Amino acid sequence: MEKRELLYEGKGKRLYKTDDENVLISEFKDDLTAFNAQKIGNEEGKGALNCKISTQLFRLLEEHGIKTHLIETISDSTQLVKRVSIIPLEVVVRNIATGSLVKRLGLKDGTKLPFALVEFYYKDDDLNDPLVNDEHCLMMSLVKSESDLEELKRLGREINGILKKFFEKRGLSLVDFKVEFGIDVEGNILLSDEISPDSCRFWDMETNEKLDKDRFRQGLGGVKMAYEEVLRRILEKKD
Ligand code: TMP
Ligand code: ASP
Repeated sequence: MEKRELLYEGKGKRLYKTDDENVLISEFKDDLTAFNAQKIGNEEGKGALNCKISTQLFRLLEEHGIKTHLIETISDSTQLVKRVSIIPLEVVVRNIATGSLVKRLGLKDGTKLPFALVEFYYKDDDLNDPLVNDEHCLMMSLVKSESDLEELKRLGREINGILKKFFEKRGLSLVDFKVEFGIDVEGNILLSDEISPDSCRFWDMETNEKLDKDRFRQGLGGVKMAYEEVLRRILEKKD
């Protein structure tokens, strides 16, 4: 596969065209950003760790029937992926209240939610990715139909069920996460982007230690160590 020109550069990844118009190269960057890039950092090796973690998790989800954009990993920090048109929504699923949910609704940090809460945020940096409801999504044509919205919620919950169980076996509580979806040339909704400690919150079930990007957001240090620990646990063989 021949690497061609840069198609898009985001905060965490670069996407390159290839000689196949339906295939892109996704390169995971070492850059770290938080609060809509008001806080910026860099951690050598972070991109490769996220690439490995995301590859493992996408493969796990595929084994459970979730369709993804991932074709294969071609180096430490690059993947071949199917070209999709990204749905401009961040689908956030929460099991435990923390982060922006606690700030918005005044819940006690760490409260276990009675059910997995699915939220949509409109992907627009200029607007700071605002929370939107179903009617906002339809009014702005961010999705084609109500049934697509229902499908995004269903997929979010299904991914949550699979990942939560997988991480619990490895002593990690999946607090919340963000996923993105895209539509491929055949019109399928595919899980896209990445799932990594940049886009999830993991708390150690014994010590409550944070093993995700909150270490960077909150200036706790030990970012790379935390990502390495998440990868180590993912690679642990269980049953
Ligand atoms: P929040 O509590 O800040 O809304 O974050 C919810 C989850 O979404 C958390 O796991 C971090 C993830 N997330 C992203 O992946 N990208 C973002 O831009 C934001 C704000 C959160
Ligand atoms: N991803 C967002 C940023 O880059 C926010 C975050 O993850 O905290 O600024």
